[in-house]
Amino acid sequence: MLRPWQISLSQRIDAARSEPVYMQIIQAVIRDIESGRLTSGSYLPSSRELAASLGVNRKTVVLAYEDLIAQGWLSSAGTRGTMVSTALPDPGLPASRDVAEPDAPAQAEYRFAAAPASPLALPEGPGLKLDEGAPDGRLFPIELLSRAYRAAAQRLTRRNGLQYRDPRGAPALRESVAEMLKSQRGLPVTADNICITRGSQNSIFLAASLLIRPGDAVIVEELTYEPAVAAFAARGAKIVPVGLDGDGICLDDVEAACRRNRVAAVFVTPHHQFPTTVALRPERRLRLLDLARQFGFAVIEDDYDHEFHFASQPLLPMAAYAPGRVIYAGSLSKLLLPALRVGYIAAPVEVIEALAHVVSLVDGMGNTLTENAAAELIDSGELSRHARKVRQVYAQRREAFAEALDATLGDHVSYEMPPGGLAFWLRFASEQTLDRIEAGAAGAGLRFASSRSFMTRPGAARGLRIGFASLDEQEARRALQALRSILD
Ligand SMILES: Cc1ncc(COP(=O)(O)O)c(C=O)c1O
Repeated sequence: MLRPWQISLSQRIDAARSEPVYMQIIQAVIRDIESGRLTSGSYLPSSRELAASLGVNRKTVVLAYEDLIAQGWLSSAGTRGTMVSTALPDPGLPASRDVAEPDAPAQAEYRFAAAPASPLALPEGPGLKLDEGAPDGRLFPIELLSRAYRAAAQRLTRRNGLQYRDPRGAPALRESVAEMLKSQRGLPVTADNICITRGSQNSIFLAASLLIRPGDAVIVEELTYEPAVAAFAARGAKIVPVGLDGDGICLDDVEAACRRNRVAAVFVTPHHQFPTTVALRPERRLRLLDLARQFGFAVIEDDYDHEFHFASQPLLPMAAYAPGRVIYAGSLSKLLLPALRVGYIAAPVEVIEALAHVVSLVDGMGNTLTENAAAELIDSGELSRHARKVRQVYAQRREAFAEALDATLGDHVSYEMPPGGLAFWLRFASEQTLDRIEAGAAGAGLRFASSRSFMTRPGAARGLRIGFASLDEQEARRALQALRSILD
């Protein structure tokens, strides 16, 4: 009986590896059957022989053989031993393709439908990360969150409520969000107008999936939020950049683009333009809505950090006065924690129902436990208390950041005090200075989003978006000094 296979197996079993030895034997046998090295009907060494040649306990081999027999890979041939099941197809090939390199993974060469782009998130790594406006997670009292989860889990378990449920999200949170949007942001909504999502990015992708047919145009500002653009592009959209000035998106450009393209949507961040932080002026909001009426596109209003507005009363979202034209995306990422992945869409009921279908396709439904815990935090008033507290902290940090900016980079950088949101938009006196800063960042132990990541067309004004909220005052000063050190 020929058993060339035994030798190669002994080379591949290693007790030092983390998988149990019996699992390694199982894998080696299956791989050899799959590759044609072990053919249907061929005999395996006895358990005693194999155990001796591998230097393992015989029981280990017996256990592996028993599992392989139970799974149908091997069969017992009585006193004649153990053989590869004759029910398996015989590859009919001479000991085949992987024989030369028995452990080489058979790597498929997939043709990806969409070429993977460069990573959108800042890679984790050494050095200080300057984000684009993240909250300081250290300020959130984590015991509140644990309590909310505990209460939600107890309540839901009693009702057998942790089952497959409505793709639009947990009813309790849809109610709480609708109430909050109605009372604090003026949106004329009920829970039927709300779909809970896994954050604004998820909302954008869901809306894109619903609205965009390949080849449709999506209008974006020449400086905007790259992951949103990438989501539209992934849906086959033609990205049409338009101008942007100190009052927001340029509507003459939007109108001209609508005359030349079949526009499915216009993506805006009207409250705090990303990345420049400016608020979209009321007259421009009205004209954008007029154009939406005229050309039939949807306005995707990404109100990603609505809760933080320092200069005056926050402006009402466009969805408050044109709910039929706007798909409104909000999030708890900035107020609570990005890692919770809780966001929401407010839109007309038909849109929400259609979105529910997309959610069913993507991930079935949301995270019921997290959504109910978030509802607990809203309904108990804890979230509002937290909002009041962090608003004060961030307001101070905003002032301190501006002072530190003036002191460290004042001769190279200009900025407007951001009226809201959690980041500054920094313009540089010369492109060369910006280039030097970007080139020297890693060496100075800093990581931040590239100025080019915001640009949707060449020639847009480059700048850096630097968050001020996630760093305390000392950390922020150190970060700015590190930026400065690149120039010195
Ligand atoms: C403009 C903009 N939209 C969307 C998002 C995504 O946020 P979320 O965590 O809610 O997905 C961000 C995150 O910073 C953002 O800045």
